[in-house]
Amino acid sequence: MVRKLSFINYKGGVGKTSLVVNLAASLAEAGKRVLLVDLDAQSNSSIWLMRLERWNPLNTSDVGHLYSIFEPGVCRLRDCVERDVVRGKEGEALLPGLDVLPTTFTLVDLEHDFEPQDGRPAFAIFQEQLAEIEEDYDFILFDCPPNVLYAAQCGIFCSSEIYVPANPDALSLIGFTLLVGKLQQFNYLCASFRVAGMQPRAEVHGVIFNAIKSNMDIEVPKMRMQFRINQFKNQGKVGKDARIFESKIRDAIVVRRAVTLGLPVNLVKSLGNENSVRDDYRSVAEEILSVQSSN
Ligand SMILES: Nc1ncnc2c1ncn2[C@@H]1O[C@H](COP(=O)(O)OP(=O)(O)O)[C@@H](O)[C@H]1O
Ligand SMILES: [Mg+2]
Repeated sequence: MVRKLSFINYKGGVGKTSLVVNLAASLAEAGKRVLLVDLDAQSNSSIWLMRLERWNPLNTSDVGHLYSIFEPGVCRLRDCVERDVVRGKEGEALLPGLDVLPTTFTLVDLEHDFEPQDGRPAFAIFQEQLAEIEEDYDFILFDCPPNVLYAAQCGIFCSSEIYVPANPDALSLIGFTLLVGKLQQFNYLCASFRVAGMQPRAEVHGVIFNAIKSNMDIEVPKMRMQFRINQFKNQGKVGKDARIFESKIRDAIVVRRAVTLGLPVNLVKSLGNENSVRDDYRSVAEEILSVQSSN
């Protein structure tokens, strides 16, 4: 059965997009069918994987992107998917199995222009349309903005698992704390829109530390995060198995360079010790896969 995972923290710049793009690529490399849904109006994961040549025309189009599915009769989600999104110079698929549901800058208008259709909020419309294609995938990963507004709600409503990318600092911990509160409010608000056959509602299952410098001692921030997770577990506010991932992603220049190249890190030509950050993303993918086998 398809697993739907949201990646979110109430803090920007912690590495949500980098983690989702590279994790999606690692899962596709392992033979999984993956759909990455870009829910952030900044469109970073769409631009990264489509590159500007393909994304720019989409950004000025009325159809083919996430915002367009909310305009009645304009287009449906299944028609917006960019299949095998990572392409070479001749248009050849470099990473078959990795699809993207792209977004554009217009998505920001959803937050103030959206009018419920027949009393149905954006997340219910999104869920209904995603259901038409979700069985085509093993994994659907949602790259969320740092808030729980309409766009992020679409991912959270459909997900069962939430993962929180974090840096080992106080602001990430504050972002995590805020997020858990907002998730509780949203889960309460959306409960009456849940339909038969939906998987269990979204809960935080893990925190993943990102951009760790080689000389950085993360024991204290890790301990503080663990303490907060334990508190939330006792209060029933996060999943019973919520934990800090064993795998962490190191800080590596290649992550930034990969964006410019329009490739996930595992397809960037290797230079010296850059392999190691690829292994980090692969380890996160393995930990995610092992959650499935232990469920
Ligand atoms: N592991 C890493 N090593 C080095 N730079 C990173 C790493 N992860 C993210 N970055 C950089 O940090 C910035 C923010 O990352 P991004 O993934 O866009 O975060 P978010 O989606 O949370 O805003 C980007 O410039 C990105 O290239
Ligand atoms: Mg982002």
